Amino acid sequence: MGSELRTDADDNPTGNPYNDDMQTPAIVQLRPMLPAEFAAWRERFVRDWGEDLARVEDLSHEDALREAARRTDADLTSGAATPGHHLRVIVGAEGELGTLWYSLSDDGAFLDDLSVNPKHRGRGIGDAALAKVEDEVRACGRPHLDLHVYADNHAAIALYQRRGFRTTGLKMRKTLPA
Ligand SMILES: CC(C)(COP(=O)(O)OP(=O)(O)OC[C@H]1O[C@@H](n2cnc3c(N)ncnc32)[C@H](O)[C@@H]1OP(=O)(O)O)[C@@H](O)C(=O)NCCC(=O)NCCS
Repeated sequence: MGSELRTDADDNPTGNPYNDDMQTPAIVQLRPMLPAEFAAWRERFVRDWGEDLARVEDLSHEDALREAARRTDADLTSGAATPGHHLRVIVGAEGELGTLWYSLSDDGAFLDDLSVNPKHRGRGIGDAALAKVEDEVRACGRPHLDLHVYADNHAAIALYQRRGFRTTGLKMRKTLPA
């Protein structure tokens, strides 16, 4: 159930992910993640999430990694083929540009992860990929897409705001003196 697989190479021979006017991101493709790609993706995802958890939730590095792995495996019980979960590879004229993961519930959808490869960031890839996710979610009959983002992830927050996401709540924590 991927987005329509087409390449922008024909109408964008330079591989520049932006159109000529530099305003509208050119088309990227989303293709389903292959089972053989899952283990490497999971390792990267758990490592990155573990770093977030250690920083934001005051966990030790080891505990944060363990917790990230536990939560990931509890969701993705059958890897890339887990029903209701959609893992995608973002592809453009230059090849693989990043990955994303969203899941469907009865009445909505949740963006679990979006990651653009570091060397491709800041060029409209995240924006274009998110537009594709919105198309897929809408095609599945879900009226909204939710997500969680850590408060110090300014790049991601700016991207989501740019795409029209609004804040529906704030999670707060005070670390108490020992
Ligand atoms: C967040 C992320 C997906 C953005 O992808 P990207 O391809 O670099 O983003 P885009 O080039 O499409 O940028 C679109 C908009 O996002 C915002 N943005 C992106 N990177 C930004 C940065 N470093 N600082 C501030 N705003 C930024 C801007 O509003 C930008 O629009 P503009 O260029 O017109 O100002 C990417 O930085 C990433 O993979 N980060 C690590 C993983 C992560 O944090 N994922 C989000 C988990 S919730």
